[in-house]
Amino acid sequence: MKTGEKAAKASSVSTAKRLLKESLAPRWKLYLVSLVCMVGVSAFTGALAYSTKLIVNEVFVSEDANAAFYVAGLIVLISLFKSGFEYANAVISVTFQRVVGASYQRMLFRKLLDKDVLHFSGKNPSEFMARVQQLGAACSEAVVNLSNKLLTESLTLVALVGVMVMQDPLMSLISCVVFPLIFWLVSNLSKRVRRVAAEETELNAAYFAAGTETFHGVRTVKSYGLEDKSHRKFDEAISRLEDRILGIARITAVTVPLLQFLGGLILGGFVVYAAWQTLSQGKTPGEFTAFITAFLLAYQPAERISKLLVNIQKNLVQAERMYEILETPPSRHSDGTKDFAAEPGALVFDDVSFAYVSKTESPALSHVSFTMQPGEKIALVGRSGAGKSTLLDLVMRFYDPSAGEVRLCDLDLKEVRDEAMRNAVALISQEVFLFDGTVRANILDGNPDATDEDLARAIECAALQPVLDILPDGLDTQVGPNGSALSGGQKQRVGIARAVLKDAKVYVFDEATSALDVENEQRIMENLARGFADKIILFATHRPSTLQYVDKILMLDGGEVVGFDTQAALEAGNEHFQTLFAAAMDG
Ligand SMILES: Nc1ncnc2c1ncn2[C@@H]1O[C@H](COP(=O)(O)OP(=O)(O)OP(=O)(O)O)[C@@H](O)[C@H]1O
Ligand SMILES: [Mg+2]
Repeated sequence: MKTGEKAAKASSVSTAKRLLKESLAPRWKLYLVSLVCMVGVSAFTGALAYSTKLIVNEVFVSEDANAAFYVAGLIVLISLFKSGFEYANAVISVTFQRVVGASYQRMLFRKLLDKDVLHFSGKNPSEFMARVQQLGAACSEAVVNLSNKLLTESLTLVALVGVMVMQDPLMSLISCVVFPLIFWLVSNLSKRVRRVAAEETELNAAYFAAGTETFHGVRTVKSYGLEDKSHRKFDEAISRLEDRILGIARITAVTVPLLQFLGGLILGGFVVYAAWQTLSQGKTPGEFTAFITAFLLAYQPAERISKLLVNIQKNLVQAERMYEILETPPSRHSDGTKDFAAEPGALVFDDVSFAYVSKTESPALSHVSFTMQPGEKIALVGRSGAGKSTLLDLVMRFYDPSAGEVRLCDLDLKEVRDEAMRNAVALISQEVFLFDGTVRANILDGNPDATDEDLARAIECAALQPVLDILPDGLDTQVGPNGSALSGGQKQRVGIARAVLKDAKVYVFDEATSALDVENEQRIMENLARGFADKIILFATHRPSTLQYVDKILMLDGGEVVGFDTQAALEAGNEHFQTLFAAAMDG
């Protein structure tokens, strides 16, 4: 327990140091200005407390009307400077918070984006956004709280305690007994906050996931009347999050009232002491007014510091979470250095096995071996769940095989530079994803440097022209978020054009023509056969009509290859093939 707490404290301190170094060092000039403002704020707050002595002694006790003007002018001036510094400091601290938060959010976003496809499978995309948003915000809050708010309050406290000591050292000493109490309170609360703060991020992510899932599937929700169920799920997520937030609030909210009560106790004792001192020891009323003002004013920063310290603990827990994410190495090593030769080369699966979850009993692929020469087109067939998409994902190098090698142009894909890999392989999936923007922009994602002729050729190949003819603005039509303004088949054709525009060595179609009518499918397949003489093309498909356009068919069953031959040969002698396409063959 004790060592655990010590370790937690040490890691908080080092996280805090790291955050401050990373955030303040590049912006030290601005921070210097804000330091000047902080010193200004605290010095003038002290001066304001001290000035009450002048009010009482010079104006009231001396009954001097002229002095009133000087003192009034002085107070106005002090207030003016104090407010000016406060304003500048507030603006700078908000600037810091925004800039620092945004920079961490950028880093997190990039880091998450660089993770493997596997990292995202089975998770709701909005969870990731929730994390980016919350962790970035927590870090920037930690930076501002530590470097600005905590410092301003501490300096102010020092200035006010200074005024107190100048007026009455003994009483100041007695009032200081609250400090160990505050310290004890804060460290106690911090410990409890640490325990609950880590969960807040996860619950927040779950809350976003539950909400966006519903809106994402709003058609399904409506058509099956699942509103209540979705609402319950959201309700549960939000309740758990609220519980957590309230738990933290209950802990942090204790500090201020408790300190106020302590303050009241001390003040009460002080009134008695002050009365005795003025009546029998000859102290001036002004000194006491200044002392009491300084004491009352000092209480505010003391309270705020205790609250800040607890808050900072919470932020630091979340910052640690962020560094964990930033520091996890990518699971797939992107340390390949080689480039493919310009000439076409073969695609080889050499005894490849792959499991999504390690130690699983039935791997998604086991001992898959086959070779495809440049210019070869094969169809990948098999029952649903046979491993077709998994095989294609390995060609894309979304994952690395658990055993065996995938080679293209005689290079193991693991040795290849990420960028070379991306240029060499093009994927067209069943669920074509289009970005919100024009048709043209989406196609050009395949190759931003493409000329108008390349674009025209891609459109031709994907049989997209008839679609463009009916769209209101042709190529410049907005497709909406995820291409929602296009039909499924239209989206697929835009997706095909995008892939075709990329001058890849291997094209991977994962049921990419499933939403197309037979006529368009035929046109595209013929175009691909004609225009892609030296390319390797894999079609994962359930449609018998696709088979007539390919050279060979690779049959998968339960992750194993159970046939690799021409359609005629398989029809004649492969029972798996015969069962799979029995209905089609009978027809
Ligand atoms: N992200 C994943 N995590 C864990 N298991 C997965 C994942 N994706 C697929 N699988 C499992 O791997 C096996 C092969 O799936 P795969 O998607 O490759 O099949 P498929 O042949 O493409 O099927 P379909 O024809 O339905 O598209 C299945 O048993 C599936 O449950
Ligand atoms: Mg699939």
